[in-house]
Amino acid sequence: MEIRLDTRPVDQIDADALIVPAFEGLPLRLGQACDGWIAGLYESGEFKGKPLETALLHAPAGLKTARLMLVGGGKAESFSAADLRKAVGAATRALKAKSARRLAVVLEPSRQSTDNAAAAVEGAVLGGFDPDRYKTGKEGAAKGVEEFVVVAPGGGPELAAAVERGRILGESQNFARDLVNEPANRMTPSVMAERARQMAAEEGLDCEVLDRDRMRQLGMGSLLAVAMGSDEPPALIVVRYRPATTASSDHLGLVGKGVTFDTGGISIKPADGMEKMKYDMAGGAAVLGAMRAIARLKPAIAVTALVPAVENMPGSRAQRPGDIVTTLSGKTVEVLNTDAEGRLILNDALTYAQRLGCTHLVDAATLTGAIVVALGHVHVGAFTNHQPMLDRVLAAARAEGEKMWPMPLDDEYKDYLKCAFADLPNIGGRWGGAITAAYFLKEFADPTPWVHLDIAGTAWLDDEKPFLAKGPTGVCVRTFVNLAMNWGTS
Ligand code: BES
Ligand code: ZN
Ligand code: MN
Repeated sequence: MEIRLDTRPVDQIDADALIVPAFEGLPLRLGQACDGWIAGLYESGEFKGKPLETALLHAPAGLKTARLMLVGGGKAESFSAADLRKAVGAATRALKAKSARRLAVVLEPSRQSTDNAAAAVEGAVLGGFDPDRYKTGKEGAAKGVEEFVVVAPGGGPELAAAVERGRILGESQNFARDLVNEPANRMTPSVMAERARQMAAEEGLDCEVLDRDRMRQLGMGSLLAVAMGSDEPPALIVVRYRPATTASSDHLGLVGKGVTFDTGGISIKPADGMEKMKYDMAGGAAVLGAMRAIARLKPAIAVTALVPAVENMPGSRAQRPGDIVTTLSGKTVEVLNTDAEGRLILNDALTYAQRLGCTHLVDAATLTGAIVVALGHVHVGAFTNHQPMLDRVLAAARAEGEKMWPMPLDDEYKDYLKCAFADLPNIGGRWGGAITAAYFLKEFADPTPWVHLDIAGTAWLDDEKPFLAKGPTGVCVRTFVNLAMNWGTS
């Protein structure tokens, strides 16, 4: 998709469709002959300006564009960059379905903030994504959007940089969504490592992949135990970004769960819905997507990404319930359920991140079904051992329109992880499953300031939204990038 800024007046814009946000209770005026048509639409009640409503006019009088699409923004006073992202996404998807290839969106002077310009581009890039790579014979189907123009009449040069930022963020989220969407036969741990290497080479990042032998030398008994049931070798992917200059000695570690398929292992999952477990590497994909954007946007803090990538299978060498493993930290874990594999790979990655010098840690993981019970598909569950660190992450998430909700990790929950035969069991009891999983990780993250994001409910959309296709969402990419970019200022 070619993306650019155009600061000329609206009537001079030539596009297949010009998208214009329109609000409740106040008919949009473009100062053109088509204003009467818009007023009539409002009067008829056919278009009210409610969020994500659309209306399409062909050959709008007074404009060069072939079509004009109004997209509802709700109340004008409270219309945020996040709302704009969705509105542009919804319009893009509606127009893509009609095979419009060259799109433009109008930002009137009062809405020409850099955040709005970036969000509009993101909306188009995210909305334009469909997970249809493996559909053959697409002739009849909708073609992709070729060009997207942000029209900001009289806008300043700062908007061009914002448009570029939006493109980087949107494409980096799609990079992550693309990895998640790959089925497990095409996205093995080795393939994920190769894709990380390729991305790092393109973006000028350093990438190192630890193989099974290296993990054995280091003593990552917990990560290796999960990998034993599969013929696919595991990989610990490490991608490094270092700023050219920085005043800070802080070093952010981003850790992402990379289970390329989760059968549950010997504690095998039911068949129904198991196909979705290809998205069990969405945390790892988010971390890699964030690194792609970070490489281009160049924050002033060192960032290291770590993705433990494994396939959780019940092969003949698989670990068994009751096995006791020794983690890199030295702590021992009794594996009571092989389906609680995320925490087994993440603990070694968290310990290793600290050995690499990370002073602050954030992990993203499709860790528990219990977080879906608690928060549904709306909020990411956010846990921490350090409130100021959580405040930073929540501020970044809020700024990016990614919903996250703080969850408790009080010391009382430690009683849920009693173990007779080792230091820790890998599961708690019946209650508070998302919390006991997080508490398990905390035992390895301490004393480093750390935030754990459980994205099991938010990394995958079962039903498409007007602004986003069914499938991977790319959640956490924007929050991670914002966190790194604003590190010094919060
Ligand atoms: N990958 C799953 C969690 C999950 C569930 C992600 C649903 C996305 C949607 C994780 O590895 C898992 O199996 N967790 C178990 C933990 C249990 C055995 C303590 C779960 O949540 O059932
Ligand atoms: Zn899993
Ligand atoms: Mn599992």
